[in-house]
Amino acid sequence: MTDGQFRKIAAIVHQDSGIILSESKRSLLMARLNRRLRVLTLPDYGAYCDRLEGPDGPQERRHLLSAITTNVTAFFREGHHFQALAQEVLPPLIAQARAGRRLRLWSAASSSGEEPYSMAVTLLDAFPDAAQHDVLILATDIDPEMVDRAQQGRFASDALAPVPPAQVKRYFQPHAAGFEAKPEVRRIMRFGELNLHDDWPFSGRFDVIFCRNTAIYFDSAARQRLWLRFGGALNEGGALFIGHSERLDGPAAGLFAATGTTQYRRNATPASART
Ligand SMILES: C[S@@+](CC[C@H](N)C(=O)[O-])C[C@H]1O[C@@H](n2cnc3c(N)ncnc32)[C@H](O)[C@@H]1O
Repeated sequence: MTDGQFRKIAAIVHQDSGIILSESKRSLLMARLNRRLRVLTLPDYGAYCDRLEGPDGPQERRHLLSAITTNVTAFFREGHHFQALAQEVLPPLIAQARAGRRLRLWSAASSSGEEPYSMAVTLLDAFPDAAQHDVLILATDIDPEMVDRAQQGRFASDALAPVPPAQVKRYFQPHAAGFEAKPEVRRIMRFGELNLHDDWPFSGRFDVIFCRNTAIYFDSAARQRLWLRFGGALNEGGALFIGHSERLDGPAAGLFAATGTTQYRRNATPASART
C-alpha cells in the first residue's frame, strides 16, 4: 500500500467514522483489506481506492468500516457498570416505569450484542414484566454485520461464560452449538445501524446510555462533540457509562457529575438556562 493509498483510505475512514488510523495501523489495515480484495477480486490497493471513489463507493465504504472497526466485546464487560445499573440506576427508573413513565436505555456501540443483552438481563432480573410497560433498550452500531449479529441474539457457549448459569437458563435457550436469547428478552430490544457522527433519529431522551470502548478510537474533537450530544440526549439525572480507558473531557464535563469509575449522571439544567 503506497503512502498516497494509505492517506486516501485513512481520510475516508476519518470522514465517515471519526476513527483515526495512524501510520502504525497501516499493516493492520492492509491485513484487514486483503479479505475485501479477495472478495471483490481486485488486484491491489490502487484498484480498491478506485472502487471507493466509483459508483459502488458508498456501499464499499460501509464494508471498509466493517473491516477496520474493532468489535471486541463481552457479556458483563466492566462488571461494576452492571452492578451500578442494577443497584443505583435502575430501581427508581423501574418504579417510575411501573407508574407509566417511559424508560429508554441505549447501547450506542453495541457490536455483536453482548453489551445490550447484558443490559437487558440486568433490567429483566429487577423488572420481569418490563415488556408490559413503555420500556425499550436500543442497540446501535456503525457496522451492519455487527447489527445483524446482535439482532439475531445468538451466542456461542464460550461467549456466555461470564453470565451466571441461572441467568443463562432464564433468558437464553439452546440453539445449534450455543444459545439464543428468548423472545421475552428480544421483546424489549430494538436494533439499528447508526454512525454516532451522523444525525440521531430519536424523538425522546434516554435514561441510560452505554457508549464504551468506542470513543477511544475518535479524535478529541469528535469525542468531545459526542459527549456533548450525549448530554443533550439524556434526561436530567440520566446515567452515562463509558469505557475503562476513556474519560469525559471537554465542554461536556460540566454537564455531568461523576458517580463512579467511568460512570456519570447528567446534571439538572439550571432554571436560568431553561428556555
Ligand atoms: C470495541 S467495540 C465496543 C463494544 C461494546 N461497547 C463494549 O464495550 O464491549 C467498538 C464498537 O464501536 C463501533 N463503532 C466504531 N465507530 C463507530 C461510530 N462512528 N458509530 C457507531 N459505532 C461505531 C464498532 O463497529 C464496534 O462494534
